[in-house]
Amino acid sequence: MPGLLLDTLNGKRGTSVPLWLMRQAGRYLPEYRALREERGGFLAMAYDSEAACEITLQPIDRFGFDGAILFSDILIVPHAIGQHLEFLAGEGPKLSPRLVDVALDALTRDPSRYEPIYETVRLCRQRLPETVTMLGFAGSPWTVATYMVAGEGSRDQHEARALSYRDPAKLDAILQRIVTETIEYLSGQIEAGAEAVQLFDSWAGSLAPDEFERLVIAPNAAIVAALRERHPATPVIGFPKGAGEKLPAYARETGVQAVGVDETLDPNWVARELPAGMPVQGNFDPLLLLAGSDRLESRARDVLEAFADRPHVFNLGHGIDRRTPIGHVERLIATVRGFKG
Ligand code: CP3
Repeated sequence: MPGLLLDTLNGKRGTSVPLWLMRQAGRYLPEYRALREERGGFLAMAYDSEAACEITLQPIDRFGFDGAILFSDILIVPHAIGQHLEFLAGEGPKLSPRLVDVALDALTRDPSRYEPIYETVRLCRQRLPETVTMLGFAGSPWTVATYMVAGEGSRDQHEARALSYRDPAKLDAILQRIVTETIEYLSGQIEAGAEAVQLFDSWAGSLAPDEFERLVIAPNAAIVAALRERHPATPVIGFPKGAGEKLPAYARETGVQAVGVDETLDPNWVARELPAGMPVQGNFDPLLLLAGSDRLESRARDVLEAFADRPHVFNLGHGIDRRTPIGHVERLIATVRGFKG
């Protein structure tokens, strides 16, 4: 029994809509905060398969979501490529050496970093109810490259964007390397039990149109093609956050089976512009979930109605904010579960 989420990603549309939330395993949950107090840092927990599996299952146990997303981070890939990685309290991730300063071949690969992540997937798949879909993920090459190049996060990804114009061959080599790693990493997750995988392009929105084609569409298409060949039955969800008017081109040209949509797009426009029958995931505003105003229910129903004519996975337009009250999440779930499309 594959379950409602996997069926939907495979193109089926019924009356019930499956639901999961990006970052559903995280700090808005008191049980996550308690485990983190006890275990220490984020990265140590991501590499501790037992702890990571427990965290992955927390939102399933509490809310009964249709999908369980692996508890991990997009920066595992740079770590395995050979950058030093730490999360500094209040400052975010730091990667060194930064690729603005050194060439790729200054880094020594350590694929053993992937092993505990695969083990987390195996443990979760064993422990999850059969109808709950186990979701793997990776960051998309452009988004991951922005951190590898700058060594940290930034508001506008200027280091990587400038490198793309100053030394395109260097950035292309970095992207190519991330493509190769990501194919291996996602294949490993699928072999360990992930039933669908999501490519997160959190910074797809910062690019000029010709750059979008080269830095977002082409590398994601290469990953999807390789995964399709190795694991033809496993759906890939592409989430190009901030893609805006470029979303339809992304959906057509990358080969992804399903497309994630952020909250800035009108779902009625998305429903008109995407290929008929293509599964869509999204796109409820995480800030409306945080605020919990009386528009929460009506807006959720607007999203459900807009996508009623195609396979739809209900989700947020980006990760759940860590200050979100549990009661607001319960209201959202009740609205989605109560909808018959
Ligand atoms: O839905 C998912 O859980 C998807 C997986 C995912 C996570 N982070 C899990 C996570 C994805 C796609 C990310 C993206 C990510 N992670 C980015 C890109 C920008 C974005 O927001 O999309 C960046 C810069 C990171 C690095 C990162 N990870 C930071 C700065 C932190 C917070 C530091 C800390 O000490 O907690 C994380 C932690 C993190 N990543 C959590 C999860 C579920 C833990 C808890 C939480 O923040 O609620």
